[in-house]
Amino acid sequence: MKVLVVGNGGREHAIAWKLLQSPKVEKVFCIPGNGGTATLPGCQNISLQVDDFEGIANIASVQGVALVVVGPEVPLAGGIVDYLRYRHGHIAVFGPTREGAQIESSKLWAKELMHQAGVRTAKAIEFTELEAALNYLEQQPLPIVIKADGLAAGKGVTVAATLPEAVGAIQALFKQRFPKILIEEFIVGKEVSILALTDGSIVRPLLPACDHKRIGEGDTGENTGGMGVYAPAPWVTPDLMARIESEVLQPTVNALREQGITYQGMLYAGLMITETGEPLVLEFNCRFGDPETQAILPLLATPLADLLIACTGGNLAKFPVLEWLPGAAVCVVASAAGYPGKFPRGDEITGLQEAKEKGVQVFQAGTILNHQKKLLTDGGRVLSVTGLGVNLAEAIEQAYAGLAAINFPGMYYRRDIAGRIIPKEVDEVSEANNIPQFDLEPNLEPNLQIPIVPPQAESLPENAPQTDFT
Ligand code: AMP
Ligand code: GLY
Repeated sequence: MKVLVVGNGGREHAIAWKLLQSPKVEKVFCIPGNGGTATLPGCQNISLQVDDFEGIANIASVQGVALVVVGPEVPLAGGIVDYLRYRHGHIAVFGPTREGAQIESSKLWAKELMHQAGVRTAKAIEFTELEAALNYLEQQPLPIVIKADGLAAGKGVTVAATLPEAVGAIQALFKQRFPKILIEEFIVGKEVSILALTDGSIVRPLLPACDHKRIGEGDTGENTGGMGVYAPAPWVTPDLMARIESEVLQPTVNALREQGITYQGMLYAGLMITETGEPLVLEFNCRFGDPETQAILPLLATPLADLLIACTGGNLAKFPVLEWLPGAAVCVVASAAGYPGKFPRGDEITGLQEAKEKGVQVFQAGTILNHQKKLLTDGGRVLSVTGLGVNLAEAIEQAYAGLAAINFPGMYYRRDIAGRIIPKEVDEVSEANNIPQFDLEPNLEPNLQIPIVPPQAESLPENAPQTDFT
């Protein structure tokens, strides 16, 4: 079977890599792919844009593709699934239609769906006028969350600690001509990403994963697309997973069906688990998470292609349980200097072979192979390194050992992913030599204390908008 993966991130590299482990998959095409998918055995990049639906449909047809997997939200929100189904009724396409993708592309639509489904979420009020929004804001406690209604290219969410910050965020969104904004209550708790496969009728959640969205260690600084992930999150107990499935995921899929939407793809719930243990939805995404995918898929034992095909065929019930490898995975993202702001491109990346020899899986994101077959940086999040272990402590150790072998000018990564403790002795010497420092509790599991501290008013940087990047 030939599969086509749309996208060019670490997520798509991981999806292509995992698909190629499925016995039925003979070849994967990646549109446009990156330096990692270019050199992945069995995978071929095709240089088209993700919004070139016609070009993608033509490739699928010429190459005899049986399954298309769409990575990013933009083509999903633009209706790529509808288009491919219209052009090739026989092709299985993993991902929701344009209507279903509204769960991510319109926060307001998602809120209404959640109300219909009886799914608990943060209280939010919609505004179309600046003045009304500012009047309402004045009556609200701080911190407060300001959200654009719509895909916002990384500028959608501000967690405001002060009134001026909130006012600034609202003004900025209206200035950018977002027709609607939401003012949302601030929820305290621990965040977890639950990605669930669905065939439009039932759901199969994947392992719970915890992303680290802020750029800085100790969860400080600006939000990014995600700087690292660990999975499974040991604090998400089987009971909590069962509640998330029965109180969040299944009711959402049911409500979509009631609206006539058979949602066949990934339903990604960004959840806040409150102090009393209640799962509240912060957002839904209509796709695989990045970098969640790079930590979750290496642990998946059930062939991915079979699962995705089952979703598109409405027969996910064929898989009553998903099989997982034992142990844990930790994925650490290496970014270019300046990310999530401006960053350079075209710097040479070295040490990937040495990293692989440490046992890690390197999933590339913002990379490109030049004509001389040199691997160069070509994005903000350059690559992600996934370590595996019998427990999180081992997975952390492996991931950081792999990262230490890799280098490119200005390479940055957080040293505290998965609660890794950064000892005071991490000084200029070890930093200069790129030596990872370990000072982990000998037995991190099962009572791992992950310091996931909800942003407190005083810990939020002044004038630093908290953005959502994907
Ligand atoms: P979103 O894109 O909606 O996931 O928001 C980006 C980030 O902002 C989330 O990962 C949270 O850390 C934070 N956030 C969003 N909504 C809230 C909320 N209602 N309360 C607290 N934090 C939030
Ligand atoms: N890691 C966050 C996202 O994929 O949206």
